[in-house]
Amino acid sequence: MTNTKQILAMLKSQAEGDTDRFYSIALQIAASEARKGHRATATEIREAVDGVRSKNSRGASVPISFAQPRGELESLLDLQEPKLKLTDVVLQPTVSERLKDLIREQVKRDWLREHGKTPNRRVLFVGPPGSGKTMTAEALAGELKLPLYVIRLESLITRYMGETAAKLRLVFDETLKRRGVYLFDEFDAIGGTRKASNDVAEMRRVLNSFLQLMEKPNATDSVLLGATNHPELLDQALLRRFDLVLEFDLPTDEQIKKLIQKYLRPLKFPRLRWKEIVECARGLSQSEIARASEDAVKTAILDERNTLNSEDVLRRLKDRADMRRAFGQIK
Ligand SMILES: Nc1ncnc2c1ncn2[C@@H]1O[C@H](COP(=O)(O)OP(=O)(O)O)[C@@H](O)[C@H]1O
Ligand SMILES: [Mg+2]
Repeated sequence: MTNTKQILAMLKSQAEGDTDRFYSIALQIAASEARKGHRATATEIREAVDGVRSKNSRGASVPISFAQPRGELESLLDLQEPKLKLTDVVLQPTVSERLKDLIREQVKRDWLREHGKTPNRRVLFVGPPGSGKTMTAEALAGELKLPLYVIRLESLITRYMGETAAKLRLVFDETLKRRGVYLFDEFDAIGGTRKASNDVAEMRRVLNSFLQLMEKPNATDSVLLGATNHPELLDQALLRRFDLVLEFDLPTDEQIKKLIQKYLRPLKFPRLRWKEIVECARGLSQSEIARASEDAVKTAILDERNTLNSEDVLRRLKDRADMRRAFGQIK
């Protein structure tokens, strides 16, 4: 069943106190069993390894620390401790399925690597403002129990492209050293083709260094997330580098209802005219619907009521629609 070399290697690693190697060989054995079609045996070995590992809380091959970055990195990375979970975000079923796949690949990344596969880790979120991209980034970090580092693009991108490229390298070096979720929010600022700019050649150089840095193998499996409202501004070459592109969109009727229910809690709302409310909310973003619902809750609190009616909600949704129109006219 198992070959003698593997047993000897396990004994040797045990003698040397190299537990990681010990588990790694055990997982290799599990992998070869799986290849032979012995799925039950493979699962048994893998679960035994997972069990011992989590007992010794050494599941991660790289220690995870929530340390605040220091030195120059301090101005480039903003550390956030994620408090959200995926269930806090109202998402399209396809998007949440893909996120769950990603989480599974990340959680079982050792197992994938034992089989010579690399877990997905470069992800782009595309969608209109207020559709929950930033929020989902936090929820993803929350699910993975990893720190969320938001890259401060305003400090990263300077007038001097050489400097920008150097800072970018610093950030990427950090992703290799410290496992985490790294969010390049409003990513089009770096990823843009910048046709209008007269610094085209320089910007290309920054973009090229970004592409090369993205390709670098990353033993920590840090997750690189880009989020953008303007995918059309992104270079095609860049889009292709992502393992996964997830599209966020305006909420569907069903999602509108879920969002309102979520943000009206903990107040009671027994008899809302849902059909009318959903119609009124159509065209608004998730964020606008969330804010409208919260406004309705605030009004009720100030009125010292604990029940909401349809008018409370409709009025606030209409306010948001008006605000949107007002902004639309400015453009
Ligand atoms: N899909 C969603 N589910 C629940 N709340 C949402 C969702 N999208 C947006 N929100 C609310 O709106 C706020 C702003 O959303 P955000 O994640 O910043 O949007 P984006 O990054 O796409 O512009 C969030 O903090 C949350 O309160
Ligand atoms: Mg955002």
